[in-house]
Amino acid sequence: MKKFSVRNGAPYIETDLDAASLASKLKKWAPWRHQIIFSNGVATGQFDRGPFWTEQPLFKIERFERQIDLGRLKGGRALDIGCNIGYNSLYLGNKYGMTVTGVEMDHRLLEVASFLKELSGVEGVDFVQGDANFFCQANTFDLSLHLGTLYHLRHPVLSLENCWNSLRDDGSLFLETQAFEDEDPLVCKCMLGTTPDPTNWWALGQGAIMSLMDRIGFRNMRLVDKIRPSSIGPKMSRLLFIAEK
Ligand SMILES: C[S@@+](CC[C@H](N)C(=O)[O-])C[C@H]1O[C@@H](n2cnc3c(N)ncnc32)[C@H](O)[C@@H]1O
Repeated sequence: MKKFSVRNGAPYIETDLDAASLASKLKKWAPWRHQIIFSNGVATGQFDRGPFWTEQPLFKIERFERQIDLGRLKGGRALDIGCNIGYNSLYLGNKYGMTVTGVEMDHRLLEVASFLKELSGVEGVDFVQGDANFFCQANTFDLSLHLGTLYHLRHPVLSLENCWNSLRDDGSLFLETQAFEDEDPLVCKCMLGTTPDPTNWWALGQGAIMSLMDRIGFRNMRLVDKIRPSSIGPKMSRLLFIAEK
């Protein structure tokens, strides 16, 4: 029986664990940033919540899914750069039988990701500790997710180059990142010191992102969605791109 499904944009995991012991385990990993719902009535939202709490961690992958038929990648390989606690990796592994490598730097997040993987019984998903600036596994993946991570990186261009190199020919990139909406679309704004988050490095203009992707070698680039969350300030947006190698 499948133990992983989706409820209103959040992962839903069937479990036989009793609620009290699951709750005491999850409490130790608080603060939580993402809603995960369990069949025994426990949900991560009942514990301390960190900043940028999201009720629907799967909303980005679902938006991309509306644009492209992922069914054609069934059984293929996916890379999830900056995978956090692994919900997108588990989603791809569960729904499309993909073999997924989730790359994350933060040890605590990897620990949670492994726990959720074990609980949900999704096979073929691996979480590895790695640096998204430098991670590269040449000509390996049919799909690369680069969601919400590019602007946290010291070397965003290098990361995109490594992503391109890691894709097989015709492989697809799903890129989602924050952007700065200036009259000059080529603007590259340094965000250091402007927010409490010391890992918030960049807000690039849409034109700058597309020029960089073009120079790296991505083709058929298209902006497929734009989100303007009030939480990220004026002239800021989140852009969703699809491109191919
Ligand atoms: C905003 S979260 C995005 C999570 C998920 N990809 C999503 O879109 O919902 C950014 C993630 O990238 C990770 N990250 C930041 N810098 C990294 C680096 N240099 N190498 C690997 N992961 C990194 C963070 O720990 C965090 O889990």
